[in-house]
Formats: sequence, C-alpha cells, structure tokens
Amino acid sequence: MPRRSCTSGDLSGNKIASIFRRYTLVCPRCGREYEPTPFRFCCEHCGELLDAVLDLSRVSIDLEHIRRNRNVGVWAFRDVLPQVSHVVSLREGNTPLLKLENVVDGKVYVKYEGLNPTGSFKDRGMTVGVSIAKSIGARYIIVASTGNTAASAAAYSSRGGLSCLVVVPHGGIAKGKLAQAVLYGAKVVEVEGNFDRALSLVLDTLRKVGKDNLVYLLNSVNVWRLEGQKTTAYEIFLDIGVPDYVIVPVGNAGNIYAIWKGFMELRELGLIDKMPRMIGVQAEGAAPIAYAWQKGLSEPLFTDNPRTVASAIRIGRPVNWYRAWRAVVRSGGMFLTVSDEEIIEAQKLLGKEGIAVEPASATTLAAYVKLRESGVLERDDVVVLIATGHGLKDPDIILTLNAERYRVSEPEDLLKLLA
Ligand SMILES: Cc1ncc(COP(=O)(O)O)c(C=O)c1O
Ligand SMILES: [Zn+2]
Repeated sequence: MPRRSCTSGDLSGNKIASIFRRYTLVCPRCGREYEPTPFRFCCEHCGELLDAVLDLSRVSIDLEHIRRNRNVGVWAFRDVLPQVSHVVSLREGNTPLLKLENVVDGKVYVKYEGLNPTGSFKDRGMTVGVSIAKSIGARYIIVASTGNTAASAAAYSSRGGLSCLVVVPHGGIAKGKLAQAVLYGAKVVEVEGNFDRALSLVLDTLRKVGKDNLVYLLNSVNVWRLEGQKTTAYEIFLDIGVPDYVIVPVGNAGNIYAIWKGFMELRELGLIDKMPRMIGVQAEGAAPIAYAWQKGLSEPLFTDNPRTVASAIRIGRPVNWYRAWRAVVRSGGMFLTVSDEEIIEAQKLLGKEGIAVEPASATTLAAYVKLRESGVLERDDVVVLIATGHGLKDPDIILTLNAERYRVSEPEDLLKLLA
C-alpha cells in the first residue's frame, strides 16, 4: 500500500469545529482517530484514507420534514451532513428512481443521476465540498478528473464565487464534459497520460502549496465530498425502502462506498433493518479491483494502461479501492467486469426506456443482464442501478457506436422506414 503524504492543514478555531461537530475521522486500517478538519484525509500512521464517522446518537432525523422538503435535494439531509455556514447549491439531488418497464423483466430501478445540475452524481458531493471551501474562506478549487468531476467542480466553484482549476487527461475526456468545464469558467489543464497521472500531478502540487489553506482539493479522497454522495442511499430508501442489490460503476471507487455508508447510517439510525448487497462494476480494460476480486486477492491489480470506451471509469489506480472493497465485502456483494460491447448494448437498451446514460453508467445494466443470465440475480430481486452520468456528456460515442441513421429524399423512402 503506497504511503501517502498526509497534511492536516492548519486551520483551527470554533468555525471549523462547528462545521464538523458530531464527526470523528477514523482510520479503517489501524483504528486511530483524528479531529476532523477540512484538509485531513489520510491516517498519519498508516496512510489509509480516513472515514468520516458521524455520531448518529446525536442526530435526530425528522423523516416527515425531509419528505416535505425533498425538492431541496441534497440539503434536505443537512442533519447528516457537515454544518456549513455557506451553502453553495444548484438544487442537486432528488433525482428520479425509474422502474424499467420495457427492456428487462425484473424489478429493476434506475437512479437517474444524470438529471443532476451538471449531469452527474458528482454534484451531490461537490455541493458539500464547495460549501465547505466557501465556509472556510478558500479561494481556489482544484481537481483531477475524467470529466464529470471537472464539470461539477467548475460549476459549483463559479456558483460560489471561487476560482477553479481542473486537470484532465489530454484527449481522454468526453467532449460534453470538457465543454461544461469551459462554459462554467474553470482553468482547464490537459496533461499527457491518464487520470491517475492527472491526480498524482494535482496531489504533488498540493504538497508544494503546503498549508496555505486557500486551495481546496475536491477529488474523492476528500471524504466530505463523499458525505454528499451518501444522500443517494437516503433518497432510495425514501422511495422504495431497501433494495436487495445496488449496482454501481466503479472508477476511483468512492461512490460505491458513499452509497453503502448512507445505508449503514440508516441502519444505525434504526430506520432500516437490512442492508442491500453492493455490486461494483468495472470495464474489462480498466478493472484493477474486479480482477483482484475474481482471483481471490486482497489488493487490486493496478494497471498503468487502463482502456475502455467508458472514459469516466478509465482508471488504473483507484485511490478509494479499500473503501469500495469494504463496502462490497461487508454487504455480501461482489465486483465484476463487463466488456465494452456489453456496455454499448446496455446503453442502447436504456435509450429504449427513454433514459440517456453515458457508457460508464451503462455498465450497471450490462452487469445486471450478465448476473441474471448466470443466475446470480433472480427475477424477484429488487435491484437499483446507479446511472451516474447523462448520455449527452459523450455524444461522440453515441453517434459512432450506437447509431442507426438513414438518408432519404423521397416520402416513399420515409414510408419504408415506417413499415
Ligand atoms: C459517470 C461516472 N460514473 C462512475 C464514476 C465512478 O465513480 P467513482 O470514481 O466514485 O468510482 C465516475 C467518476 O468519474 C463517473 O463520472
Ligand atoms: Zn491508520
């Protein structure tokens, strides 16, 4: 396990304490505990990324109030989030949970995260992360990204009046996402190499910035971002209770953990008495965790050359792998891979339900189909697919790999197509 250089930042004072009241940072490997700060992400002893543990005995959650305020989105769950003094929001969250009616015969729901303000689930975490940044007086947001984090960080930074710098793999992100980052006014830096290279460049740069608290990192190593993402679980619970399975695309591996954490909290709050099994899906050419799982290993088989049509999860060295691993092991779930062909097929199937997703999100339906065929999942299982990003993010893929297009000039030709 690579050692991380851990900085805790220098901020002190009541303001910070009050944002993170009721939280403790706990190392999942060695058990050490730390005072929460906006900047402390990993254990100084063993280097593992820290969990943000909320003291739920000090939380009273009013479900009726939340139900009435669902349209507020993520911040309807503010009782279980950091207590920021400034909320930077675009009304993220409160996404629909749609039952598939045409393309499968099971009890399958799609959590349509593509309907978030910037078109992906990242907005749930970004609203929390940028609100913290704003509340502590940070001026700059920095992220490495396969695209969606860049789009989201750019939007929320602008919304909050902060500057934003996004670092992306040159030629490695979908056009729509790049366009968003530009439109929302971020400085876009393209680096040679893949996402893992972009992230290590950002982390190395931050070490040089040192304890100057004006620059705030909002990659998913930032556990406060994951706090926002856990609200997905709370929303699913309010809509249908606890599903049997939740299937999540896995890239840097933060989201599957965040959703699992949400369900764990609901259980600790006494609101549910069973947990869904978490299923993590990776694309065949970018599956360091899933291959390790299949081989019965206890650490990922990192790769420096991840390849898949699903650019959002084209990641060879997922920093949150240990978090994802715990979520899957403890919930009795699994990891699996799907091929690029299966991903594109599933993307088309979701299109036939009127649901536009980008390739990374289509991995979830591809996995469902595969697991039904192999008998792991049954018709009666209630399954939620986390459709993480909108299809319009990546129009090139749709037009090159999905398209059935025709050219006609006469009505007779059109008539044939109507036959
Ligand atoms: C559309 C989409 N799906 C899935 C993921 C993977 O999420 P995580 O990195 O939390 O595993 C990402 C991350 O960029 C994404 O943009
Ligand atoms: Zn530790």
